[in-house]
Amino acid sequence: MLRINNLHAQIEEGVEILKGINLEIKPGEVHAIMGPNGAGKSTLSSVIAGKEDYEVTQGEIIFEGENIVEDAPEERAHKGLFLSFQYPVEIPGVTVTNFIKAAINENRKAKGLSDMPAKELLALVRENAEKLSIRKDFLGRSLNEGFSGGEKKRNEIFQMLMLNPKLAMLDETDSGLDIDALRIVADGVNSFRNEGNAVLVITHYQRLLDYIQPDYVHVLADGKIIKTGDKSLALELEEKGYDWLLN
Ligand SMILES: Nc1ncnc2c1ncn2[C@@H]1O[C@H](COP(=O)(O)OP(=O)(O)O)[C@@H](O)[C@H]1O
Ligand SMILES: [Mg+2]
Repeated sequence: MLRINNLHAQIEEGVEILKGINLEIKPGEVHAIMGPNGAGKSTLSSVIAGKEDYEVTQGEIIFEGENIVEDAPEERAHKGLFLSFQYPVEIPGVTVTNFIKAAINENRKAKGLSDMPAKELLALVRENAEKLSIRKDFLGRSLNEGFSGGEKKRNEIFQMLMLNPKLAMLDETDSGLDIDALRIVADGVNSFRNEGNAVLVITHYQRLLDYIQPDYVHVLADGKIIKTGDKSLALELEEKGYDWLLN
């Protein structure tokens, strides 16, 4: 599904942040990326999603058989890539439901499809809201306006389930991830995952991986993947910290 070959990216001329990333994600897999602060984890997800603050200087990002390095972020989204925190903006007057409706119809338009019929959309909203214990009044609230940390999280995961991407990337940077928010993310990911899609979870916190069972755990440090293992690597990191790998 995703193959990254020797990816180098910089933030400005000469300031390289990703220094040769190699990563392969197959359908049905969940990968976790861990690593110390400033390692380049968020940069990696942003570069995959196509955020324009970064320049790819070398390497390829092959998604579903195509190199997407030159694609705009929207094109990548239309091809089935999702990055949480892509839309953290507050939009007064635009409800949670209307926002996701617009995003779904954008995707459909890019594929030459007409808008999703209202009935179908409603059924989908209902199904996914139920999965995340989202109440009806929440769906009618203005996007992110006055949302608590947990509500933001819930909305994000709701967007993921609604858009149903091929590859979902979740960047769990939020230091305020309490146990409820962890559960929301984990339950969402677990109900999302199937044989045909894949998930990349980026986290500083081992705790999240108590609830999401990753197939692979990668440690990113100083712009490179320095170690890959199974979920026991996360436990080892919890116990020993990152230092034993860095020396
Ligand atoms: N937009 C940016 N402007 C300047 N420096 C950045 C930017 N994004 C990332 N960096 C720098 O790149 C490095 C990696 O950051 P980041 O990818 O956020 O790390 P992580 O998510 O692993 O904590 C850090 O040194 C950070 O300061
Ligand atoms: Mg980060």
